Amino acid sequence: MKRKSLLAGVLAGTLAAALSACGGGSAAAPSSAAPASEASSAAETKSDGKKVGISMPTKSLERWNRDGSYLEKQFQEKGFKTETTYADNKVDQQVKDLEGLIADEVDLLVVAAIDGESLSQVLGDAKDANIPVIAYDRLIRNTDAISYYVSFDNYKVGQLQGQFIIDSLKLDEAGSSTFNMEVTAGDPADNNATFFFNGAMDLLKPYIEKGTIRIPSGQDTFEQCGTKQWDTATAMTRMQNILGSNYSDGTKLDIALCSNDSTALGVTQAIESDYAGDGRPLITGQDCDEANLANIVDGKQTMSVYKAVANEAVATLDLGEAILKGEKPDEKLIVDSNWSFDCAYDTTSYDNGRAVIPSYLLTPVAVTKDNIQKELIDTGYYRMDGAYPKALA
Ligand code: BGC
Repeated sequence: MKRKSLLAGVLAGTLAAALSACGGGSAAAPSSAAPASEASSAAETKSDGKKVGISMPTKSLERWNRDGSYLEKQFQEKGFKTETTYADNKVDQQVKDLEGLIADEVDLLVVAAIDGESLSQVLGDAKDANIPVIAYDRLIRNTDAISYYVSFDNYKVGQLQGQFIIDSLKLDEAGSSTFNMEVTAGDPADNNATFFFNGAMDLLKPYIEKGTIRIPSGQDTFEQCGTKQWDTATAMTRMQNILGSNYSDGTKLDIALCSNDSTALGVTQAIESDYAGDGRPLITGQDCDEANLANIVDGKQTMSVYKAVANEAVATLDLGEAILKGEKPDEKLIVDSNWSFDCAYDTTSYDNGRAVIPSYLLTPVAVTKDNIQKELIDTGYYRMDGAYPKALA
């Protein structure tokens, strides 16, 4: 069960103003805002020509391109050299990428793993070479080589999706009405995927038990609902099969709980091609990918969850700098850095099989057609391009 220390977030909020007078730290960094490096005092930032190796999973899922470029931007603006690799969602490739980065003698590794279980050996090599490793966004399991984890509150992502369903369909006032739901979860190799699934399903379970929510396919476990590599076509095919077997007589589908946008895209396509019932189901997602935001504007997807990866990069930079200075960062980093975004320091939720990894968890936000302007445009993360939002990464 998810637990987090709220202390750091509270401290960050209440002490930020006081500390800013001391010239500390960095701000959130949508492209249009002042970059973190400019907001930091020169005295505390000495990269000494150090090099950061950034290992991303793939270019084929929109968000990792944004992550890669934000991380490069943040570190380069502080004078670091960067070397970034994308592994085409192939585990062997990511291992090779990491071997290359270690051979190139990077001083710090920032790694978003494709498969959280498969990097133990190569990260052991990083440890032997005294290269600190930050697990970025996805926890890396079964290794003692990682010292910290930077991510969003992944359980909360699922909770935002679940609560959105409860509120939108007024499930507490449903009486004897029933709603049909199908669930599409993420990649079983990605440690985040169960957090998203559990966050939503823990909230929805009482309604399933009461019979307010029915799952006609009967597929309600993470194992049954997972989508290898978060692949859009895989999610589409699975939903087409579910629709064919359970909804071809016109049975109404009310809810498609999808853990993220790449799977929501596939589910939306399946509904367009194979759904015989009335109306459109409520469809959830995560990431605010451009194609999904267009679907939200057009009424084909109902919500997404936005995670400001620009801020995730800022947190990673400040953490990485502290590690490279030989410090042992803890929740004080949040206060000292004076971030303008919420972040919790969590020392209980993310056990990687070897240790509980100290984690910096940023806060996700639910996005619908009604708050795209406020959450995405006014904040400077996206701009409108005609009728649709475009990311500014
Ligand atoms: C990330 C999500 C993303 C998914 C697929 C997860 O680890 O946290 O933001 O949708 O991977 O790329």
